Amino acid sequence: MKLELTILVGTMTGTAQLVAQELELSLDDEDTRVQTRLMDGLDASVFDGGGLFLICTSTYGQGDVPDNAKALYAALQADRPDLSKVRYGVIALGDRTYAETFCNGGKRLDAVLSELGATRIGEVMLHDASAGTLPEEVASEWAGPWIASCREALSLAI
Ligand SMILES: Cc1cc2nc3c(=O)[nH]c(=O)nc-3n(C[C@H](O)[C@H](O)[C@H](O)COP(=O)(O)O)c2cc1C
Repeated sequence: MKLELTILVGTMTGTAQLVAQELELSLDDEDTRVQTRLMDGLDASVFDGGGLFLICTSTYGQGDVPDNAKALYAALQADRPDLSKVRYGVIALGDRTYAETFCNGGKRLDAVLSELGATRIGEVMLHDASAGTLPEEVASEWAGPWIASCREALSLAI
């Protein structure tokens, strides 16, 4: 059965969007359909009906989600929808120079989704911009096994 994956992108300067585009190119095939959406203008209804989501977001300010993710983050906290039919993964982009708030944008979205009953598949992928690795490469390596875990969790034939 075909896996339907929606990648939701929170970004300020486009890195998370580039990561999502690379993932869409590598993951979209006969077994998996990938759709990428910027978080701009989205509210909690994006999760209506459940499904599989990959949150791909950076961190700004004092460990905040990027500006284009703020409305969605606030709507989830205010509306508190039941997300028990949602399965998700998280790619969190950050920089360890911000030691106290490293990757907090992704961690915040992870926390609110899980509070609302969504089930995370796999560990949160953390990328450190000061480490000298390319986030799209680290993400591609992480995403293969992650997709396999999703198929297993959703009991789809691998
Ligand atoms: C003004 C500014 C504030 C940032 N604040 C944080 C932070 O608090 N924690 C963190 O881990 N990374 C922080 N970062 C690093 C970014 O999240 C990281 O560079 C990311 O790869 C940018 O992705 P984007 O282009 O998709 O927005 C900050 C970067 C800038 C420019």
